[in-house]
Parts: sequence; C-alpha cells; structure tokens
Amino acid sequence: MSNPKQLAGERATEYVENGMVVGLGTGSTAFYAIQKLGERIRQGLTIRCIPTSEQSRMQAEEEGIPLTDFSQVTQIDLTIDGADEVDPAFHLTKGGGGALLREKIVASATRVQIIVADESKLKDRLGAFPLPVEVVPFGWEATRNRLADLGCDPVLRRMQENTPFQTDNGNLILDCPFGRIDDPPALETQIRSICGVVETGLFVHLAHRIVIGKTDGTLEERIEPQPL
Ligand code: A5P
Repeated sequence: MSNPKQLAGERATEYVENGMVVGLGTGSTAFYAIQKLGERIRQGLTIRCIPTSEQSRMQAEEEGIPLTDFSQVTQIDLTIDGADEVDPAFHLTKGGGGALLREKIVASATRVQIIVADESKLKDRLGAFPLPVEVVPFGWEATRNRLADLGCDPVLRRMQENTPFQTDNGNLILDCPFGRIDDPPALETQIRSICGVVETGLFVHLAHRIVIGKTDGTLEERIEPQPL
C-alpha cells in the first residue's frame, strides 16, 4: 500500500478503542479512516461517531457505522480529520471541502484531535492555500469587502456549473488568498469579528497529533508542540 492518504487515514484508526465517541472528518484522507472504522466495526469494534459533513455521514451510513449527535454526548474522545495546511505550531487551514464549520464544532468538543495528511500539507507558514471563510448569504458582498480590508481578494466559491457553492449549513464560502499568514491566532480573531462571518478555516490549538503518510510508504507522527 503506497497511497499516503490511505496510510495516514488507516494508521489513525489504531487509536480508536471500544466505547469511544469518535468524530469523523471530511475529505479524501478522512475517507480512508471512515472506511477502516467500518471494517473494524464489522469485526466487533463498538463505537459511536459524529460526522463533520453530510458527505461523511453518507459514507458512515454506507459502512454501517453507528452515529450519534450532541444531544446524546457532551464530549468526543477522538476525532480523525484532514487539513489543507499544517504549520510547525500545529495551526491548520481547513475547509477545502467546505466542511469547516462542522469540523470546528466537532474539533472544539474533542479531547484528542488527530490530523491525517500527506507530506504536501506540511508548510513552514500557512497561507499559500486560500483560506476558506464561511459567511451567511445575506450581504455576502459586504462581508467580502470587510475581508478584503484585511489584505486579500476574496473569491466566492462556485460549483462547476458556476452556481455558488452552498455549505451543509446553507451558507457560502469566500476563499481568501492571503499568500502568507504570519500570525494565525490574530488573523482568526480579526476575521471572526467581521459581521456576516460564520467561521474561518483557521484552526488554532485544535490539533494534538499529526499523522503524515509519505510517498515512500512510510509514516511520520508528530505530537503537538508545547505553546511557548
Ligand atoms: C474539508 O472541509 C476540509 O477541511 C478537509 O479536511 C481538507 O480539505 C483536507 O482534505 P483532503 O484530505 O481531501 O486533502
């Protein structure tokens, strides 16, 4: 097996134990974790899961994975999710798949967040990947202008047919090409203070372990560095 995403996704499932409540991430790397969890459940693993998107919910249901929600649980033991960029301080950009809001709600309620990725996601600094920001549809143009004031030229995400992309929550995504993000916590605070913004794809202090799959078939794991 030499698919780095599959390597990382499947390895992360080894941290899942009987009785856990598990968050299911979204994207092509989390896909392999969900697939593997389905396999383990058919072999007797007993867990309950909360998906971070309708896409992951559908995959989980197809795999026969028992689902739960926040009316039933207050904390998630472990979540396995992907990322678009990971910096050395474990700050992340997420939302390439548009699931950032549910991903952040789940991550914020999670005890151990495992990020699964291939090597291409490791960056010295965030920002080369346009930062996804979820905004309410009403007045999105005004929200875009406030985001532009922060030093980028936000682009409304569209589907192939050119219709605006709609998130699972009925909102829009503005992709914000900052180029470089020198201070992720500060930028997150600035963006979240803009009226009309629902959530940003900047994940600050929300990752505990990174599992990296490599093209040579090996794996690397990193544990969250202690904040200075
Ligand atoms: C979904 O909205 C994103 O946050 C994904 O987790 C992220 O884009 C990683 O996706 P891949 O594993 O497909 O690269």
